[in-house]
Amino acid sequence: MSTSRTELTKPNHLDEVPGWFKPLDQALFGFFLEETADRPGDLLEMGCYLGKATIVMGRHRGDGETFTVCDLFGDETQGSYSRKATLDFYEKTLSLRAFENNYLAFHEQLPEIVQARTDVLADRIAEDSCRFVHVDASHQYEDVCVDIDTTRTILRRDGVVSLDDYRNDRTPGVGAAVWESVFTKGMRPVCVTPNKMYATWDDPSPLQKRLREWAGETRDCVVAEDLIDGAVMLRLSSTAVKHGGPSLPKPRSSALKRIACDVLPPVVTRAVRRARRPR
Ligand SMILES: C[S@@+](CC[C@H](N)C(=O)[O-])C[C@H]1O[C@@H](n2cnc3c(N)ncnc32)[C@H](O)[C@@H]1O
Repeated sequence: MSTSRTELTKPNHLDEVPGWFKPLDQALFGFFLEETADRPGDLLEMGCYLGKATIVMGRHRGDGETFTVCDLFGDETQGSYSRKATLDFYEKTLSLRAFENNYLAFHEQLPEIVQARTDVLADRIAEDSCRFVHVDASHQYEDVCVDIDTTRTILRRDGVVSLDDYRNDRTPGVGAAVWESVFTKGMRPVCVTPNKMYATWDDPSPLQKRLREWAGETRDCVVAEDLIDGAVMLRLSSTAVKHGGPSLPKPRSSALKRIACDVLPPVVTRAVRRARRPR
């Protein structure tokens, strides 16, 4: 039955929100959203489904920052899905009402919602305005190319993009678009997880240095290094996923500081992180 006709219940915990957003990436979103928060910038999510990653991103929206989400929300009249099978799936499982219900269980105010295909965003979001973009809408090669090109224009130089399913065997078009952008459009990987690549158009090495420190303090997080055409790319994985253990992040050392970062509002965690960052 369509979610637009179903009685909606409010989720109490992020785990109750359907989606594919894994604990390691939930923790990494926190890392990158705080790392890019040294000055205000906007946030954008392309493809939010029922709001699992949106809810996490919303925690890190600072004062005066605009958070925009773009999705068709299962409604073909708002644009068109690239594949009929995609429409069939989302028509059954997704509605704008269900997204709003989930988001408002965790936040007082909705983000700016664009119910349309993501290809409208290039004309709606200002150049160099965003500090973090999540690309997770259509997984077709042509669409992802457009989404990455839009991101390149609207992301400020030191901003970070998260690219979903860059290596999923069911979504080869995403991999093709992502690696094409690395080799021909100046996109520079910071790190990869099993599900997402994190990249920038700036020098990735300062972020990689802090990411290593962060990974060292984060329980169940393993970091390795690869060279891609001479450029360092970090590879992060979670031992908790393999062993079915608890969600990241959990304190290993500096327990009080880490717990503070997990439970305090973003504005406070930002101050804690800044104080800890080497100058
Ligand atoms: C994989 S889901 C997103 C998952 C979500 N980010 C999360 O973490 O739970 C993909 C979403 O993209 C939307 N979508 C697919 N093609 C799109 C397009 N061309 N423009 C806008 N949204 C699209 C779908 O409606 C769906 O909600």
